[in-house]
Amino acid sequence: MKSILVTGGAGFIGSHLVRHWTERYPDTHLVNLDKLTYAGNLENLKDVETLPNYTFVKGDIVDEKLVDELFDRYRFEGVIHLAAESHVDRSITNPLAFIQTNILGTATLLNAARRAWNGNSDNKLFYHVSTDEVYGSLGKEGLFTETTRYDPRSPYSASKASSDHLVRAYFHTYGLPVVISNCSNNYGGFQFPEKLIPLVINNIRHHKPLPVYGKGENVRDWLYVGDHVAAIDLIFHKGQKGETYNVGGHNEKQNIELVKLLCRIVDKKLGRKEGEAESLITYVQDRAGHDLRYAIDSDKLVRTLGWKPSVTFEEGMEKTVDWYLSNEAWLNNVTSGDYQRYYDRQYGNR
Ligand code: NAD
Ligand code: DAU
Repeated sequence: MKSILVTGGAGFIGSHLVRHWTERYPDTHLVNLDKLTYAGNLENLKDVETLPNYTFVKGDIVDEKLVDELFDRYRFEGVIHLAAESHVDRSITNPLAFIQTNILGTATLLNAARRAWNGNSDNKLFYHVSTDEVYGSLGKEGLFTETTRYDPRSPYSASKASSDHLVRAYFHTYGLPVVISNCSNNYGGFQFPEKLIPLVINNIRHHKPLPVYGKGENVRDWLYVGDHVAAIDLIFHKGQKGETYNVGGHNEKQNIELVKLLCRIVDKKLGRKEGEAESLITYVQDRAGHDLRYAIDSDKLVRTLGWKPSVTFEEGMEKTVDWYLSNEAWLNNVTSGDYQRYYDRQYGNR
């Protein structure tokens, strides 16, 4: 059986990817290496944990010995690298954790792949999942393309930019077969409620203030997580080695517009009075160095590989709100920290 290493599979996007891949490719063995930081949650993967083509390994991508051992044991033909510190606000308070995981961790994986594949790139691929934030901040006009100059402005985006450069350096210097995708803000179920959408839904549930940074005028381009996973699948199988693909939803929204939309949907679904949630909106101090606008041009992916999003923004938002409202136990476990005990219950001291 062909084996693929997925890193960060217990996180938000990673868990959607693991579920998709194990179901769609039963003849591929997926090994999920995840450190289970606060953002990693094995409850996200309950439905796949007993599948014969899935193995979970708790560990750090910076741990060279472990990563080398895994390459030797499973003879991976592919890597899909998602593990990262991913929250911009945390990168502002603790940048070193981002440098450690996002830069050193990526370098450790690249080195292990280079050693194991030893110049033989037949049927091998190192797929690096990156972000549109590496391109910096747009003004009111324009879109990020694959050739937009890098201009990262937060410790998070600088660490991701650095990892992208390392991936390309391994392609040019050592001929390592790589591909990179840079995508916009994902949304959907299983996202840790420190990120805007699940945070707002959860706070509305509890009648808590909805914190909007600055004036709420910053713009993000929202992409349904299932459509991102479909893009990764397509790029993994059909993308050109050494290339970069941008993935975006073509759904630009100002934060305040998005928060108000969530307020309307959640009020309606909870049978509350119109305007009840909106009254919770609270403008708070802006994020330091807050990028004004991100917007992706996905034309290359659409034109060359035929990708297209499967849900509209409205459908995706409905699905997302429904998911959080019908998975209250998940939200309660995550916000109370209970999910971190799941590993011990499930795996003991392993
Ligand atoms: P997430 O924070 O939800 O999950 C990250 C996962 O990585 C967690 O399971 C965590 O335990 C694991 N991890 C962290 N440090 C690790 C380490 N040192 N070793 C092993 N595992 C470790 O992140 P996400 O939102 O799912 O993002 C996944 C990837 O996609 C990241 O690389 C991120 O930069 C990128 N990305 C995310 C978005 C988005 O909107 N969420 C958009 C563009 C790109
Ligand atoms: O663009 C892709 C990036 O999207 C990914 O690379 C990151 O991993 C992911 O976290 C996300 O980054 P953002 O900073 O855009 O996402 P976040 O959900 O933190 O914030 C979205 C917007 O909402 C941003 O402009 C900041 C604002 N915000 C966020 C929070 C948490 C608020 O106004 N209030 C909040 O409480």
